[in-house]
Amino acid sequence: MPASDAVDSGPWDAKVQQYHGGQDWAHIDNFVEDFSVTTNAFGMPESAKAAATHAIGHSHHYPPADQEPARSSLARFLWPTDAECAAEKDRLILGNGASELIDLVIRMAPAGTWKPGPFRAQYKEYERSARNNGMDLLATDTPDKANIACIVNPCNPTGDYLDLPELKRWIDANVLPGGYVVVDESMQPWHSPGFRAHSLTSQHGFVKQMLEEQGVAVFVVHSWTKLWCCTGLRLGSVVCPSADHMRAIKKAQVPWSVNVVALAFLDAVVADDAYLQKTWQMTPVWRQQTVSRIAQMFPEWECHGRDFLSWIWVDTKSEDVARRAIELARAAGVPVRSGLPGYNHPTFVRLAVREPTKVDVLLDAWRAL
Ligand SMILES: Cc1ncc(COP(=O)(O)O)c(C=O)c1O
Repeated sequence: MPASDAVDSGPWDAKVQQYHGGQDWAHIDNFVEDFSVTTNAFGMPESAKAAATHAIGHSHHYPPADQEPARSSLARFLWPTDAECAAEKDRLILGNGASELIDLVIRMAPAGTWKPGPFRAQYKEYERSARNNGMDLLATDTPDKANIACIVNPCNPTGDYLDLPELKRWIDANVLPGGYVVVDESMQPWHSPGFRAHSLTSQHGFVKQMLEEQGVAVFVVHSWTKLWCCTGLRLGSVVCPSADHMRAIKKAQVPWSVNVVALAFLDAVVADDAYLQKTWQMTPVWRQQTVSRIAQMFPEWECHGRDFLSWIWVDTKSEDVARRAIELARAAGVPVRSGLPGYNHPTFVRLAVREPTKVDVLLDAWRAL
């Protein structure tokens, strides 16, 4: 029996859907904060919320078929210089959350084998889509190359991160000629104000070379619902290896998949520099404070993940302790994500980085452990 069948899956239909966090909040009377998702601790940016609210007034019109001007605004965010933006923009397409694009890219991929990144667990929608599309799933640690390889970097939930040279080596070593590689960089913009230079979206030469010399198509997926805390709005993008690949996705994509509210949100949010500055400044500070407090309270627990990330992957070292930690958190109105459903790590819990007053509520609840 898959682990996800053996646990409470809440509103998810565990037989056909993949479990994710983020569903508890609406069913908790004393809800305080959602620690079960990896969204930005600063919540939805006010500037973009105002733009989205305004756009509801235009919702009796269809969204623009070319996703403009939001698509160009995101391109400018990814590639701030005129020359780079002009050269790369035609490879970018938006989606109704990254999830839509993950599924579209995998549907277009060559048939055959699929393999995940090199980490102990990784965000599961890639695997779900590969399975749905009849691919043979290879194990993480197999030396065999696959027709399609998908790596989540930084990896949700484990918090592992490959720097660009390691990432390129992994790509080179894990995909067959003519295959697809999908690199999920949803959490990468947290890296630092210099995140772009560390992102695969800046590696135009490498992506071109992979395509021309090995026929390997490299896609870079972003979920924008985490960085800009808009999971309910649904916003994602993919940078394709070529404009032709982008148009192949466009051909398969359902029309108007990104609605006018989400487009207006995106168009505004990319200009909110102050929001990102405080994100880069405070996330590592709050993360480290929480890690230190956990280490004091529970010296046997281990906190995993890079220090810039918006969550902590915590090994309580005990299935029973993890189960009780999840129950206590939920009862206190601060749900955390169990490591069991989907990830099959029953001693682990994943908690979002949040401001200290919210962490107080969670850690107070855990005093009973
Ligand atoms: C690494 C990663 N990629 C993609 C997604 C899907 O995001 P979206 O809400 O944009 O569909 C998530 C959501 O948790 C994620 O963690």
